[in-house]
Amino acid sequence: MEKDILFVSNWKMNLNCDEELDFASSNYDKFIEFAEKNKNTIILCPSFLNLYPLIKIFKETKIKIGAQDCSKHSKGSFTSQICAESLSLLGCKYCIIGHSESIKENKYTTDDILQKFSQLINYKISPIVCIGESIKEYENGTTIDIIIKKLEKFFNIINSNIIIPEYLPVCLAYEPLWAIGTGKTPTQDQLETTFAYIFEKTQKFCPQVKWKLLYGGSVNSKNIKKMKEIKNINGFLIGSASLNFQEFEKIVEL
Ligand code: 13P
Repeated sequence: MEKDILFVSNWKMNLNCDEELDFASSNYDKFIEFAEKNKNTIILCPSFLNLYPLIKIFKETKIKIGAQDCSKHSKGSFTSQICAESLSLLGCKYCIIGHSESIKENKYTTDDILQKFSQLINYKISPIVCIGESIKEYENGTTIDIIIKKLEKFFNIINSNIIIPEYLPVCLAYEPLWAIGTGKTPTQDQLETTFAYIFEKTQKFCPQVKWKLLYGGSVNSKNIKKMKEIKNINGFLIGSASLNFQEFEKIVEL
């Protein structure tokens, strides 16, 4: 049976607001076509400024729109922040949190990310939680240790005080920091092992959650075919390759 694969297109801040709109509207028919023709889920994550325009453009289509971050607060005097409630009112269905670029830029702690997670669940937005190891941790062979440490914190709050609706997918994106924008990726064996491990832990500790396990970091049309073969991968978080339409199309279709 054909797998339902999530393709999350993280545009980061690579385009200005006009370029983002142009990219979305000039490829509108193609986006719709491949979202319609297979079981895949396509999620576009533009800048905050274009969330609303894109939600309007893709209204009543199968394309979903996601944000690249949200505030850990629900409301109040937090200059520059965007709350989960507003994202939900706009029609945002997904939101990336804990991306290493945003952690580095904003000095977010794990607690911050956990609070963002709770906010998103509260407003029925699917979190896309990024986790991954540094190059040093990878070279020291501690990838699995790093992942379990981070996952445990999510399992704890899920099992203590958060009720996640059955229908709401919770995405875990394994994104090794050293693979982002570098052209390097873990080997096939490493990905098989890491995803088997993440799958086992999610099923053991939070079987009630509708988990979606994603891989991110230098995904492109050359490596996608092999990655799609990995048993426990349910989707991909794609950066630069998602901004070249032909490349993105190949990634989805290959
Ligand atoms: P690249 O696909 O450009 O490596 O970026 C990955 C990423 O950070 C997606 O969130």
